[in-house]
Amino acid sequence: MTDALTSLPEPRHPDPADAPPLRWGVLGPGGIAADFTDALHRHSRQRVVAAGSRSAERAAAFAAAHGVERSHGSYEALVADPEVDVVYVATPHSEHLEHALLAIAAGKNVLIEKPMAVTAAQARQIVAAARGAGVFAMEAMWTRYLPQTDIARQLLERDALGEVRVVTADFGGRAAYDPSSRLWNPELAGGALLDLGVYTVSWASFAIGAPAGIIASGTLAPTGVDDQAALVLSSASGAHALLSTTLRAGTPSLATICGSEGRIETDSPFWGPSGLRVFRADGTLAAHWRDPYGRPYRDGMAYEAAALARYVAEGRTESPVHPLAEAVDTLATIDEARRQLGATRVE
Ligand SMILES: NC(=O)c1ccc[n+]([C@@H]2O[C@H](COP(=O)([O-])OP(=O)(O)OC[C@H]3O[C@@H](n4cnc5c(N)ncnc54)[C@H](OP(=O)(O)O)[C@@H]3O)[C@@H](O)[C@H]2O)c1
Repeated sequence: MTDALTSLPEPRHPDPADAPPLRWGVLGPGGIAADFTDALHRHSRQRVVAAGSRSAERAAAFAAAHGVERSHGSYEALVADPEVDVVYVATPHSEHLEHALLAIAAGKNVLIEKPMAVTAAQARQIVAAARGAGVFAMEAMWTRYLPQTDIARQLLERDALGEVRVVTADFGGRAAYDPSSRLWNPELAGGALLDLGVYTVSWASFAIGAPAGIIASGTLAPTGVDDQAALVLSSASGAHALLSTTLRAGTPSLATICGSEGRIETDSPFWGPSGLRVFRADGTLAAHWRDPYGRPYRDGMAYEAAALARYVAEGRTESPVHPLAEAVDTLATIDEARRQLGATRVE
């Protein structure tokens, strides 16, 4: 066991530039769309060739600012663009269902920002539509495609940690209270769980699968969305996950996977390129891997785009390392947690 933990496997896809190029269309030219476009253009051969907005002016301004060839003054025009292979849905959570279905109905592959939808039921609609149309669909859970996550995956595949019993993850950030913003407005499906907590629930799923038991505790903002939540997820095998998320304070953004033979502790942030330390069962440090690739923070989104391009080239219709059913299950967990908290839901 010691060798399995000391000699860490190499990440399998460390260079996003080795993926075949696709032509991307951005639907919803807001904050994340800007960083996504820049990350792709800096670190991969993926090209954002079109931007679509509800306003022709905003689409044109985004295109000019981010080296995008064409702009469209409606989402309908964007998804009808014959020179677009894949649509990146980057609108607020409340709009993901409508916009993903729009792109799928136009025959486009889709990458949908996290969370894939507001509820598991909505996510199932997207999955059914994508399967019916035979297009590729994926949630933009970019953590799954990072080099450090691939090292953790290989350790799990090799059973190097033994029996996994405890998983932890936190993601909190302080957001100024603004009832109209997408983080706080229930009409836009705000709340800590959907915005940040989804990363922690997805991490638990990665390590121990979908939970058999869910206990949630937390607080609500004046708008009724959850502004803080702690989750205990338990699996039938006896493993549990302790998760924390908040819009009220910055938290370390660390994650662990603890097994009978050793444990992984990520560096911060676990959700973006950072690193990980591996400890033996006796608590001694076996290895510390620090991401050497120079694609920090949101530049790490280039990995998910490259993964999608590889999968499409392989003829797949979903991600093998983050299947659609798993994204649905993650939302089912968040559904139940929001129900227990009494959070306002607008669907
Ligand atoms: N991967 C990550 O690290 C990361 C980070 C931040 C956010 N996200 C995700 O990305 C998505 C967008 O977040 P963001 O921070 O980029 O949001 P944002 O800056 O508010 O941008 C969202 C865009 O969606 C469009 N939109 C369509 N309908 C809208 C509506 N009803 N209200 C407001 N805007 C609407 C707007 O563009 P037009 O009106 O011009 O069409 C707007 O620019 C969310 O799912 C979020 O969870 C991911």
